[in-house]
Amino acid sequence: MKVLITGDHAGMTLRNEVANLLEEMGIEYEDAGASCTTSVDYPDYALPAAERIASGEFDRGIFICGTGIGMSIAANKVKGIRAALVHDMFSARATRQHNNSNVLAMGERVIGPSLGREIAKIWLETEFEGDRHSRRIEKIHSYEDK
Ligand code: RB5
Repeated sequence: MKVLITGDHAGMTLRNEVANLLEEMGIEYEDAGASCTTSVDYPDYALPAAERIASGEFDRGIFICGTGIGMSIAANKVKGIRAALVHDMFSARATRQHNNSNVLAMGERVIGPSLGREIAKIWLETEFEGDRHSRRIEKIHSYEDK
């Protein structure tokens, strides 16, 4: 699995935590996020990163900003992206099993680094269950094609 991580100035600490986790898990990744603490605009990071996942260059993405909300809104504008804003471990598992989410969005101002790390680990390790959930996802992608 190849993972693209990104984020703005408000998500740098949690993004570094996630990068450490990916290294520990032996997962190939690239960090395309802001590398300075000066204020940047989250769509400038979320949109190109989402496109690189939608194109197949990366399998999944982990996008982090202050709340995770801006990142998830922007990412979900890109066709083929199923971004889930997650701040608890139950949803981290459920969104992989049921939604086959290909982007995990988190907010550094919402949760601490330890919880963020656990959420990312569960999300990376959980498989999609398919079956009836595939049909539901198909309905979303048919709508995208209209
Ligand atoms: C930046 O201040 C903040 O607005 C951004 O990181 C994010 O939370 C937006 O949704």
